[in-house]
Amino acid sequence: MISKTMQDAINEQINKELYSSYLYLSMSASFASRNLPGFSKWLSIQADEERGHGMRLYDHLIDRGGCVELKAIAAPATDWLDNLKTFKEVQAHEAEVTASINALYELANKEKDYPAQVMLQWFITEQVEEEKNAAEIVQQLELLDARGTAVLMLDHQLGKRG
Ligand code: FEO
Repeated sequence: MISKTMQDAINEQINKELYSSYLYLSMSASFASRNLPGFSKWLSIQADEERGHGMRLYDHLIDRGGCVELKAIAAPATDWLDNLKTFKEVQAHEAEVTASINALYELANKEKDYPAQVMLQWFITEQVEEEKNAAEIVQQLELLDARGTAVLMLDHQLGKRG
């Protein structure tokens, strides 16, 4: 059975993953309303993935006889009119999530919670990918010209995400 300390920390992380989903859905809505469906789709898929991350932690708690405590999800910002600034926010947010996962892993080590350590290794690998993807889009946006032609090309490219 999982310790109360680990259970509380994992419940906090579930909330952070669900907030991430909310945040990316808010960004997706902004791009959709500005007729940039590729950016919107990319972020909508990302929002779904974040819910999946929350569910991995949820399942872990259930599997180990723990108790899932769903907390209130904070309202994300809605001001996502600047494309570059928005993806810089994605990048910064993912860096925060990485720090949070790393802290959770450290706690699992301290608690000698071996099953949680194994479960969290998936997240540690996933965060490398998450930060890489965000950095790539930020760098591409930084290269775009001011006329917006390249924004449409990038929108088309992001819309190919399956
Ligand atoms: Fe669940 Fe994007 O980290």
